[in-house]
Amino acid sequence: MTLKISYNRSLMRNNTLALQSTAEYFCEVKNTTDLREALTFARSKNLAITVLGAGSNVVLKSNLFGLVVIINFKGIRHSIDGNDVVLSVAAGENWSSLVKYALRNNWYGIENLVQIPGSVGAAPIQNIGAYGVELSDVFVSLDAMDIRTGEINSLSHELCGFGYRDSIFKRKRKKKYIILEIKIKLSLTANVQCDYPLLSEALKMDSQKSTGLITPHRVARTISDIRRRKLPDPSIIANVGSFFKNPVLKSDSVSRFLECYPLAPVFEINGAEYKVAAGWLIEKCGLKGFRSGNVGMSSEQALVLVNYGNASSRELLQFSESVRQQVLSVFGISLELEPTVYGSF
Ligand code: EPU
Repeated sequence: MTLKISYNRSLMRNNTLALQSTAEYFCEVKNTTDLREALTFARSKNLAITVLGAGSNVVLKSNLFGLVVIINFKGIRHSIDGNDVVLSVAAGENWSSLVKYALRNNWYGIENLVQIPGSVGAAPIQNIGAYGVELSDVFVSLDAMDIRTGEINSLSHELCGFGYRDSIFKRKRKKKYIILEIKIKLSLTANVQCDYPLLSEALKMDSQKSTGLITPHRVARTISDIRRRKLPDPSIIANVGSFFKNPVLKSDSVSRFLECYPLAPVFEINGAEYKVAAGWLIEKCGLKGFRSGNVGMSSEQALVLVNYGNASSRELLQFSESVRQQVLSVFGISLELEPTVYGSF
């Protein structure tokens, strides 16, 4: 065996919440040969497998039994067909570096997704989205290894079952596949999406200072500035971005909700469903900037839970549960965690 597998390995550097967690067995894989070796090892010892990318959307409890596999496949290929640029990107690439690489080449479509932390392979799992664009808008297909058989399958856009922060990889295909590479389709022509309220306001303010067209580069710069202002940098203060999803309400519940809270920010998803801003609900409960022990809700963005230092996963999850309960008792709306929780206390 050439693959290095460690035993009782700390995962503190493998999760952006900086939680103390230990993997029973741990390895990093750079290609399919490594990955097959890792799967064979796990099968021989009857170990469960947990796949991690950059760990920017996970809550790790103290112990992850079995084998933790970090996907570190690298490489970006592209082909141009008319106005379309099809990119095949390995799962271990960094998402935000990919956005910047596309912009340097004047390939457009993912500029609104700049500065989202995490790996390319994790992006389809929660269908990353920001400022009016989601991965599913440019997604073509992905290649994934079936954990049980080791076969590599190609899954089309339709098969991935994307929704708001959702895909089959969070539901019925959870733990079935390991994503190896994704294919996205970008464009040589700019088609900027700047309807998202915070973005359009920021662009308007910027237009008062500078003149000229709203280019994808300018959209990316403006979004980077908003994110810097609103979202704490995980390399400075540990967090996973939004800790809860924005709750989705049907039109009759949203009408009742708006009768009581006419100023609440509500975004239409489709004619029948609406997203209510969870950050607003948390702020209205008086929890924006609230800290208890080592954890708190950020004072810039109430939806972001931060670990100020040495929080344990137990302390952090108890705190998030108390936030959930307060929102439930005030508004009767149940918040769902956005990151995935792994392991045991
Ligand atoms: N709001 C408040 N108080 C707050 C935070 C937000 O009142 O403390 C209100 C704002 O005033 C605004 C509305 O809530 O009217 C929406 O806020 P924002 O634009 O900051 O977006 P969000 O709904 O809180 C979502 C994503 C973010 C993404 C932004 C921008 C989810 C769970 N989160 O947040 O994604 O960057 O929109 O598109 O959908 C992430 O997933 O980790 C993430 C950061």
